[in-house]
Amino acid sequence: MKLEGDRVTLGVTGGIAAYKAAELVRLMVKADLRVRIIMTPNATRFVAPLTFQTLSLSQVRVDTFEPVSPDRVEHVALAQETDLLVVAPATANILAKMARGIADDLLSTFYLAYGGVTLVAPAMNTQMYLHPATQENLEILRKRGVVVLDPQEGELACGDYGPGRFPDPPYILERVVDLLYEKDLHGKTFLVTAGPTREYLDAVRFISNPSSGRMGFALAQEARRRGAKVYLVSGPTHLTPPWGVEYVPVTSAQEMFQRVLDLYSGADVVIKAAAVADFRPVPLVEDGAKFKKEGRRRLVVELEANPDILATLGEEKGHQLLVGFAAESRDLLENAQAKLARKNLDMIVANEITAGFASDTNRVVIVRRDGSIRHLPLMSKEAVAEVIIDEVAALLQAGKAR
Ligand code: PMT
Repeated sequence: MKLEGDRVTLGVTGGIAAYKAAELVRLMVKADLRVRIIMTPNATRFVAPLTFQTLSLSQVRVDTFEPVSPDRVEHVALAQETDLLVVAPATANILAKMARGIADDLLSTFYLAYGGVTLVAPAMNTQMYLHPATQENLEILRKRGVVVLDPQEGELACGDYGPGRFPDPPYILERVVDLLYEKDLHGKTFLVTAGPTREYLDAVRFISNPSSGRMGFALAQEARRRGAKVYLVSGPTHLTPPWGVEYVPVTSAQEMFQRVLDLYSGADVVIKAAAVADFRPVPLVEDGAKFKKEGRRRLVVELEANPDILATLGEEKGHQLLVGFAAESRDLLENAQAKLARKNLDMIVANEITAGFASDTNRVVIVRRDGSIRHLPLMSKEAVAEVIIDEVAALLQAGKAR
């Protein structure tokens, strides 16, 4: 994992959303981050430090004067051991202290001693959040380079309705990851396709396949985390598009073809993880209505070929780096190599149908145009995406050097 060993200090302040910070800690630890926690004394009235200690497997700091070790000035030493400070939830009080430089507890003192990359997730009553004093403090922090997450709008613990809710922990984690990742793909534009296409026979019936979109979404997320501008053209899925990507939803292969062609000239890299239907039915009814079965014992559906999107991109290839996928039920490598040549690709990722479709994991073989072959073990789709984007980054680098 790219985040292994990155050190995050999480400041938890005294609001009802403090209990949601526990989930954030769990997600951070799962993402291989090293998390240390500073709670304000008020935060400990909402959630016991033991909760955070258990989740982070490290001692929770609360008191500036609590002796941790005689050879450490805790707030200064911890500041030097921190790659990112996250204050979540951030109350109006801590935001005011951070904006004005007041250091009267361990967290506010730490903030001044630290001076590095900082993210805050304000969560409070709507009136308190919208108060000019809080808004001015947030503006001061933004101008200073602090990343301020907008609170969600909705019903609050106090019964009010409006902005002030703590953002979802997975979203906060994504913003944390974004701040920690090296931006080696900055300036590059990626076009990633994902998911199945649906080919309608009538108003409600369609031909499709079990692609969940996970592989393509993981690739889009990884490229975006590494600083690329990412367009994600996807067929219908149940997934939430990764934060920061330009999401282009489509339904049919023809629609995907059109959207991909529109974006092609501006792309540096195209990765086609979508499972595109090769054929579409000739519609059973002309006017988009629902087909009536009455009186029929048999039905013949005629299919016509969809455009091969990737092959078209291969024919029109200019500066773009083209990466295809191959989902095969037999002769994985031979079929993938043949597709790479036929579609004029730079790289192809071959997966067996049984390993790739609709699961959280995938087992792939990466074949490059130069003939090199890399077999990967069964891995999470996120981990597979990391390796594929590493390979793409290496090809881009080599291209630059030529
Ligand atoms: O979505 P998931 O559940 O995570 O599953 C991931 C996956 C198995 C769908 C993915 O890893 C994968 O293998 N995608 C490609 C599946 C596929 O359609 O393979 P293919 O061998 O039929 O097509 C080869 C390549 O041509 C693919 O890059 C495909 O996107 C592209 N193609 C195919 C047909 C077509 N008409 N136009 C295309 O662009």
